[in-house]
Amino acid sequence: MTRRSIGIIVNGVTGRMGYRQHLVRSLLAIRESGGVALADGTTIWPEPVLVGRNETKLRELAERHGLTDWTTDLTSALARDDVEIYFDAQVTQQREKAIRQAIEAGKHIYTEKPLAEDTAAALDLARAADAAGVRTGVVQDKLFLPGLRKLKRLIDGGFFGRILSVRGEFGYWVFEGDWQPAQRPSWNYRAEDGGGIVVDMFPHWHYVLEELFGRVTAVSCVTATHLPERVDEAGHAYAATADDAAYATFELDGGLIAQINSSWAVRVYRDELVEFQVDGTEGSAIAGLRNCRVQHRAVTPKPVWNPDLPATEDFRAQWAEVPDNEDFDNGFKVQWEAYLRHVVAGEPFRWDFLAGARGVQLAELGLRSAREGCRVEVPELRS
Ligand SMILES: NC(=O)c1ccc[n+]([C@@H]2O[C@H](COP(=O)([O-])OP(=O)(O)OC[C@H]3O[C@@H](n4cnc5c(N)ncnc54)[C@H](O)[C@@H]3O)[C@@H](O)[C@H]2O)c1
Repeated sequence: MTRRSIGIIVNGVTGRMGYRQHLVRSLLAIRESGGVALADGTTIWPEPVLVGRNETKLRELAERHGLTDWTTDLTSALARDDVEIYFDAQVTQQREKAIRQAIEAGKHIYTEKPLAEDTAAALDLARAADAAGVRTGVVQDKLFLPGLRKLKRLIDGGFFGRILSVRGEFGYWVFEGDWQPAQRPSWNYRAEDGGGIVVDMFPHWHYVLEELFGRVTAVSCVTATHLPERVDEAGHAYAATADDAAYATFELDGGLIAQINSSWAVRVYRDELVEFQVDGTEGSAIAGLRNCRVQHRAVTPKPVWNPDLPATEDFRAQWAEVPDNEDFDNGFKVQWEAYLRHVVAGEPFRWDFLAGARGVQLAELGLRSAREGCRVEVPELRS
């Protein structure tokens, strides 16, 4: 068995996503499971190079995991020959500049979403990466979650007949930060720092809709900043200038309608933090992050509207659980493995910068719809 080591810069590794999902749950987990096996018997072995701004945090984090390769100097890390991949999990605003540097250094690039702050920049990054011949990828983790994988299985198996509509409900209460600390970083609530729920979540909704149901052709969106003041990590009150809720309708190829509510100012009365209900002529499903339930047309009840009587049926009990039928690994890790196979063995990987740019475009057009109070068509982006 040949081990193929591959140096990977992990920039922004001290952040929530960089540390937990990408370093610990993906790259280190891949090493714990023996590397990524290729068909020819080679094993890809990630060698993380931790990059960040704070030396103390980096050293502490590296020591915690027995790692020794870390630096605060991105330029010198990019100059190394044994580093082949640049990964970015920094705050969004810092991403474009660093990715451009990585393209110039000839590194393959994988990044958190959103790829850039606007469509023009995202498209330009996609073109520059293409011209430099480097292999790109953007995180689209939700596609690899068990609930959505089961939903995809239902679609592929023809369960729904003709799919009519999708309604998604995403959100939870993000504490204001005064009497209880907020559970998300404060930059998410400041537009001037790249925050906002549309920029954060529409890239996800874009790939979920496009991969499962079809191309998004138009968007109508209303946004709100329900909580105009929050308290930051240092205990200081600040003006929350970014949208913290978005109520959007997406039109898809084939006439399918998707409505998705996204909110950080909603309390959860759901089984999971995000749920999608899909209604089709033959059956319906509710998919969350982990679970998926179905109701076939043959077992659909026939309720009659009568507000004078209490509900006569337990509607929730009438849905059947879709079995796992396979082992589901962490979604971020599964996508990392696919990206590494793409870089090392040239296996196909369609979640590239252009796919990421389409996500940025939907966020940008969603915000325009909200600003101008109108429905906005989504033109097809080409490289
Ligand atoms: N795929 C997902 O489900 C998902 C979920 C949350 C966030 N994200 C994305 O991941 C990225 C990081 O988000 P996060 O929640 O981990 O944020 P975070 O604030 O926890 O981490 C941000 C990281 O960027 C670094 N950084 C570099 N320059 C900075 C600067 N000038 N100011 C502040 N921090 C700076 C920080 O040191 C830190 O390591 C964002 O682009 C976000 O959109 C993706």
